[in-house]
Amino acid sequence: YADYDLVIVGSGFFGLTIAERVASELDKRVLVLERRSHLGGNAYSEREPETGIEVHRYGAHLFHTSNARVWEYCNRFTAFTGYQHRVFAKVADQVYAFPMNLALINQFFGRSYSPSEARALIAEQAGEIDTKDAKNLEEKGISLVGRPLYEAFVKGYTAKQWQTDPTQLDASIISRLPVRYTFDNRYFNDTFEGLPVDGYTAWLERMADHPNIEVRTEVDYFDVRDQIPTGTPTVYTGPLDAYFGNSEGALSWRTLDFEQEIVDTPDFQGAPVINYNDEDVPFTRILEFRHFHPERAYSTDKTVIVREFSRFAEPGDEPYYPVNTPDDRAKLLRYRELARKETANANVLFGGRLGTYQYLDMHMAIGSALSMFDNRIAPYFTDGRALA
Ligand code: FAD
Ligand code: NA
Repeated sequence: YADYDLVIVGSGFFGLTIAERVASELDKRVLVLERRSHLGGNAYSEREPETGIEVHRYGAHLFHTSNARVWEYCNRFTAFTGYQHRVFAKVADQVYAFPMNLALINQFFGRSYSPSEARALIAEQAGEIDTKDAKNLEEKGISLVGRPLYEAFVKGYTAKQWQTDPTQLDASIISRLPVRYTFDNRYFNDTFEGLPVDGYTAWLERMADHPNIEVRTEVDYFDVRDQIPTGTPTVYTGPLDAYFGNSEGALSWRTLDFEQEIVDTPDFQGAPVINYNDEDVPFTRILEFRHFHPERAYSTDKTVIVREFSRFAEPGDEPYYPVNTPDDRAKLLRYRELARKETANANVLFGGRLGTYQYLDMHMAIGSALSMFDNRIAPYFTDGRALA
């Protein structure tokens, strides 16, 4: 472990962006340690062997950004398809175009509304409760979109996501519920969007493909930490609380369970993602992976679907979404102070979604790694500045 200029813990987009920049821009030797059996973090995907269909192992990953620098950087390692994400919502035996938009309103209320008629209808229904008086998530939802849309599209889905009745959830969990008074149901509003032409794993592997970068999988940093010379510059992208042995208490996360099924049909649902908003259906959505790549010549006799279930993470589960209760936020402040000292005393920087306890989209993880490289790591190696 003495042969490396920099150690990176975790091979997700954050860690690999740092590794790539340090290896190619600074010509320094980088060791990436990865606990899992593969690189790539949660963006990892693989071909399901029976069908050849690319499956995103840790949930559907859609790439989108309005950051031109991040887009240009990503395009060095992969080309993107013209994929545009759209989501549908199944409620009581109907499928609606989502997010809530004019098509959904017309279908749900059973007649055609012009944009201004629909706006007036929803404003009237939302008038039942003033948003500033909402005492819980349910009241907040009703105050924003009215009771009928709330009960059909928000209530059951939210209850399943949080395993909690929305009347028991904090109103602050939702700040807005977008309703579009047009027929536009494109999910993202970003300037750039697409999926990597030959898959996420090919993209991630190209980032790591440099003679100065060594990736070791199936190595847990905490098992080898005492073999790494003290003071070796380190970028840690694992869970923040785990780094400090949970000294301030465990930060809470939601996790997902995925149930994959290969179905003998050319097309199961006609779309990549259908949400199941009804509370009596136990899963929150079904992903059908062939539809992410309509341009590929996948065989048509079978399809791969994944049912997604949401719950609170327990020790040992994959942490996916920060819960971020007031208690978590208090712990986070204490961990941030410990992290600041660790950077100053031991040259360890903390980054990525786990290392900062923040939900980060891929473009945000990459953008934040590029900033860490520019502001902390490059000055350290080129000008001898402190990492802290
Ligand atoms: P990660 O990808 O989580 O990488 C961290 C790595 O560190 C992991 O590989 C982990 O195994 C490793 N590690 C942790 N502890 C140790 C240790 N002690 N020793 C060694 N290795 C360790 N983003 C989008 O832009 N679009 C999407 O549609 C999208 N969908 C998502 C869906 C889900 C369910 C989730 C959870 C995330 C989604 N994201 C999406 C976010 C995307 O996954 C993240 O932006 C990206 O993973 C961030 O990369 P990262 O490097 O910070 O973390
Ligand atoms: Na209101």
